[in-house]
Amino acid sequence: MVSPYINKAEITDKSSDVVWHNSTVNHQQRAEQKQQKPVVLWFTGLSGSGKSTVANAVESQLMALGKHSYLLDGDNVRHGLNKDLGFSDEDRVENIRRIGEVAKLFVDSGAIVLTAFISPFISDRQQVRDLLEEDQFLEVFIDTPLEVCESRDPKGLYKKARSGEIKNFTGVSSEYEAPVSSEIHVKTAEFSIDGCAKQVVSYLAEKGYI
Ligand code: ADX
Repeated sequence: MVSPYINKAEITDKSSDVVWHNSTVNHQQRAEQKQQKPVVLWFTGLSGSGKSTVANAVESQLMALGKHSYLLDGDNVRHGLNKDLGFSDEDRVENIRRIGEVAKLFVDSGAIVLTAFISPFISDRQQVRDLLEEDQFLEVFIDTPLEVCESRDPKGLYKKARSGEIKNFTGVSSEYEAPVSSEIHVKTAEFSIDGCAKQVVSYLAEKGYI
């Protein structure tokens, strides 16, 4: 399936006569009300690496601390906003572009945003980083070896990918470009889910986000 939305220049052109409208309540006021520094925690990693699981555990810990967060999850977003997108390179690019824009809106609302998408391409993750202020994007690499993800195979997708039933499957028949300098590097094969989540929350505390 070819996405009708891949031509970014066309998207920009179509909106060229629209003027930005500033709201009365601003970002800083929303952040102060929530007593936190809004940020995107961009989880990236293979399917089955534990992105959603660790992100959910981080959200629970943030909730317990009285912080305001929102989790955007790959499988869920693909049921709604991005249900017109498949897994070709072009569609994955568009998937991440839209999520980046949505994450930016949530950051503006004052939230700590967690995103759990494979987001296999370095350039797409960089594009989202560039959309935000320098300290508003933290890449969280869920670094779980392919063999471990494949042995977990929670949705039976690796099996289908190996048999050819699913095409363009990340790690098997489509590339995953691992981060080279993520802010947070998490190893789910070596630590518990709770431990991995604590690592992320501790980073937020150390850097003054919460
Ligand atoms: S991304 O590559 O565009 O970032 P995303 O995170 O939204 O992917 O969706 C990945 C999820 O879709 C996987 O966890 C898996 O459940 C499902 N999926 C279905 N087909 C594929 C495929 N070909 N490659 C990767 N994931 C797939």
